[in-house]
Amino acid sequence: MKVAPNSSENQGERLIVPDLAPIRLDWPAGAMIGLPAKESAKKLADLEPLFLDRAAFHALDPELVVYRVRSWTPVQPGSEGGLFWGVTILEPGKVGKEYFMTHGHFHSNPTRAEYYCGVQGHGLLLRMDHQRSTSAEEMRSGTLHYIRGEHAHRVVNVGDEPLIFWACWGSDAGYNYGAIREHGFGARVLERDGRPVVISDE
Ligand SMILES: [Fe+2]
Repeated sequence: MKVAPNSSENQGERLIVPDLAPIRLDWPAGAMIGLPAKESAKKLADLEPLFLDRAAFHALDPELVVYRVRSWTPVQPGSEGGLFWGVTILEPGKVGKEYFMTHGHFHSNPTRAEYYCGVQGHGLLLRMDHQRSTSAEEMRSGTLHYIRGEHAHRVVNVGDEPLIFWACWGSDAGYNYGAIREHGFGARVLERDGRPVVISDE
């Protein structure tokens, strides 16, 4: 923000010239426009240990992109007190009877919470505590989800279009993927008779 100096014409007034914000959002499309935005993709091969049906997994193209994440990290990861902003676009599909899903993670710092906000599609947000107690919550356009810092979180696309949700999380939240990679969540989301059902995986 720049403040123009006084001159004889604008004596006593302050003319404020706003800077252009570095990022603009196309909210419903899940697009971030601007140089600082980063994009990453998770392919099926990156999610190999997570799905139940091994034969069905190996019948699919490992290069298939399951989800994309676009993010803006205006401070260094790990910086105390900052905030990150991002969007995930999770494709529809299944491995056998199991719906496409994000990897899921705990935060390294369990005091750091996160918001998710659905803008398109139909999903389920899975949350799991350290006792592996797992619950599911519907995600649709307009739903807002507060995720406690100590809960692992994963999103499952149970619809037939891309599921798009925005997120805001702490720059010092960190990611712990290992526990999920090794032990998964306490429940899975499978298709039964054309509908998603949440099944205990204990
Ligand atoms: Fe998170």
